[in-house]
Amino acid sequence: MKNILVTGGAGFIGSNFVKHMLATYNYKIINLDLLTYAGNLENLKEVQDHPNYTFIKGDIRDRKLVNSIFEEYKITQVVNFAAESHVDRSIEDPEIFLLTNVLGTQALIDAAKANWKVDPENKYSKEYKKDVKFLQVSTDEVYGTLDATGMFKETTPLAPNSPYSASKTSADLIVRAYNETFGLPINITRCSNNYGPYQFPEKLIPLMINNCKKNSKLPVYGDGMQIRDWLHVKDHCTGIDTVFHKGKIGEVYNIGGNNEKANIEIVKLILKELGKSEELIKYVKDRPGHDRRYAIDNTKITTELGWSPSYTFEQGIRETIKWYIDNEHWMNNVTSGDYMKYYEQMYK
Ligand code: NAD
Ligand code: DAU
Repeated sequence: MKNILVTGGAGFIGSNFVKHMLATYNYKIINLDLLTYAGNLENLKEVQDHPNYTFIKGDIRDRKLVNSIFEEYKITQVVNFAAESHVDRSIEDPEIFLLTNVLGTQALIDAAKANWKVDPENKYSKEYKKDVKFLQVSTDEVYGTLDATGMFKETTPLAPNSPYSASKTSADLIVRAYNETFGLPINITRCSNNYGPYQFPEKLIPLMINNCKKNSKLPVYGDGMQIRDWLHVKDHCTGIDTVFHKGKIGEVYNIGGNNEKANIEIVKLILKELGKSEELIKYVKDRPGHDRRYAIDNTKITTELGWSPSYTFEQGIRETIKWYIDNEHWMNNVTSGDYMKYYEQMYK
């Protein structure tokens, strides 16, 4: 039995991952989530009474709480999703990104280091309990941006451009450093853009579907020719699962499905799928420091660990659009509170 601490498990990817792990393995999953605007327990309704599942509302920066969770639940692995995740918000107000993404990750990994060490008296001991692992869910944004050619490899120099990606890069490097300096068993995954059910509608795909449904304008930044490399969230979850079980200690793995699309292509596809006119498109002021193109080279995880994605983009995006249309109640709930204030401020 593994006792896995999943942080940020009430968010988009975390909730998909919690459900994937409970459905696939007989492990105990302890989900620690602060329930910020992005965390939603409705995402976990199907598993809330699962005997192997525990939810704890709390902050990864709360060292006392995190330590008590390690002790009480005898945590053997951590998968750290908890983060502030939206680039535009990091441009409006960077501080919380540093607090959560950098200091939060450090508080969490300190707890792992203290609780997993075989000889706690020896500060610099590199001996840890057997089979423990800290898996940091990082992002391809740590690599910065690409021109028309080339791909991000795990060895590509890190050059983050937004406060969000700079904070994720710092977290990624702290986790790496705890392996180099203290010998803590870690893996880092760097995935490209996810899409699928339960994504907060501040992000491109659910935002465009929601606006389309309401016949509101679709705000496309700049010329709409920025390229993202899309992966279905369920494929991201199987990628993390693969690294969790088979990843070589200390290694970084890119996760991506070779699915590059320009933003405007995605917007037009959503309009077509929902039978709406392209007149709804509105080109708006570009995002400052906007990364032009992301593309993941997934050779390492596919060849060394045998992972591959299962969704084609065509299948995944149609299912995703249908999910948001069928789950109007979920969309109405998450957009009913502070979201509208954010939307008005952001897109005014
Ligand atoms: P999300 O914003 O949907 O969810 C983040 C979750 O973290 C929320 O449930 C929130 O309540 C929780 N959280 C925030 N601060 C916390 C704190 N201090 N303590 C505990 N919980 C806290 O994000 P997401 O899109 O699901 O992304 C999850 C992770 O994956 C992030 O680390 C992100 O950087 C990374 N990632 C995301 C993508 C993507 O396309 N969405 C791609 C690659 C990597
Ligand atoms: O690449 C992985 C990253 O993908 C993750 O680390 C982030 O957590 C995640 O938010 C995502 O970042 P992006 O900035 O790429 O995602 P977003 O959905 O915000 O935007 C996707 C593209 O669409 C980007 O080029 C900006 C553009 N866009 C976005 C919004 C919200 C628009 O043109 N209009 C919009 O209204």
